[in-house]
Amino acid sequence: MTEHTTRVDVGIVGGGPAGLMTALLLKRRGISAAVIETRTKDTIHRTQRAGILETATVNMLVDAEVGSRVLTDGHEHEGTVLSFDGEQHRIDFQALVGRSVWLYPQNEVFYDLANAWECEGGEIHWAVTDTQVHGVETAAPRISFTDAAGQTRSIAADLIVGTDGSRSMCRKLIPESVRTDHFISYPFAWFGILCEAPPTAPELIYANSELGFALISQRNESVQRMYFQCDPDTDPESWSEDAIFDHIQAVLGTEGGVQLKRGPIIEKTVLPFRSYVCDPLSHGRLVLAGDAGHTVPPTGAKGLNLALADVRALVPRVEEFITELRASESDRAGSDRSGPEGETPDGEAPSVETPEPLRRYSRTALDRVWKAQNFSYWATNLLHRQPEENSFTHRRRRGEFDAITGSVHGQAYFADSYTGWSD
Ligand code: PHB
Repeated sequence: MTEHTTRVDVGIVGGGPAGLMTALLLKRRGISAAVIETRTKDTIHRTQRAGILETATVNMLVDAEVGSRVLTDGHEHEGTVLSFDGEQHRIDFQALVGRSVWLYPQNEVFYDLANAWECEGGEIHWAVTDTQVHGVETAAPRISFTDAAGQTRSIAADLIVGTDGSRSMCRKLIPESVRTDHFISYPFAWFGILCEAPPTAPELIYANSELGFALISQRNESVQRMYFQCDPDTDPESWSEDAIFDHIQAVLGTEGGVQLKRGPIIEKTVLPFRSYVCDPLSHGRLVLAGDAGHTVPPTGAKGLNLALADVRALVPRVEEFITELRASESDRAGSDRSGPEGETPDGEAPSVETPEPLRRYSRTALDRVWKAQNFSYWATNLLHRQPEENSFTHRRRRGEFDAITGSVHGQAYFADSYTGWSD
């Protein structure tokens, strides 16, 4: 069988929200893109991920006119509740920083973007195998893969965007001599459930007690999402429904506190997490965005928001790069007899430097990434129980918690970070 080759400006590896939003926004600027993804559309749509969107993320979905249902099906939350040993404190985002967040699950953000890209006739290949990315250090990078029908294909481009998630293969194309992997792991994980019950409270509750962390989130009027801290080796089946709800209720406090609304559990998963940053996010003709370049623990609900902040930083720099490239190509075509850039006389593609606009993207994106890393790390340690706890460590954390909830400045720090800093 012969290989089918497509030629686009930008080839995108990974059809999650970061890859699709990049493709859509580039198209708005007259830059063509094609996307490949190893999972099926349905698998991604059915996979539960975090559900909180910052104001800037919501604005981006609205401004991109991708038919997102965020404003109709999502819920605006003007605050959140922090609970320590059964005592609740509301953080009023609107009063403190004039911003809200929206509860709208990431898998629905994905679905809106995928539908928009497909409706606009964008090239996308779901469920691909054998993905390889070639020549990122040359001016002629290329993606090769086998599509869902078994056809071998190739996408030739000027730039490759790696949005292929936390187990990114694109990231590994940045040589170890160039790349720094900043990494820490945590000695705990989240036990996540979906249950058929009405909401327990109008806003999310982030809770800590001597038993550890719990989070009461929501999905809609009849399905709720909750989490509690567990050992990373926990078998989800070893916890009965009653044991799960009793434990979450105990973290929330049993006397006079929040009364958990219970209902049949329809999904149980253990979610390990870590903090990771790849530096730089650009190398030659490759850039990384979203989880491919960095992962955060879910406590600050920053994952998707950071991924889309990357895209906001990336798209104008890609436009700048492509515009400069086209200008230099037409200069060369007009002034000399050498072949097109990307081929030496013997047909080998010469290596290229990382273009300056793409270096700038990496620097801008990483500044925000590190702020979000700090917040996610801090909130995780504030709200989780460490394996080696004693009365001092628990009481000290309570002191830290009181310093946040007990002063308008502490509350504003939380509200500013949680709802997302301006670009
Ligand atoms: C969720 O709804 O799944 C969720 C919300 C907030 C978080 C993490 C997950 O911090």
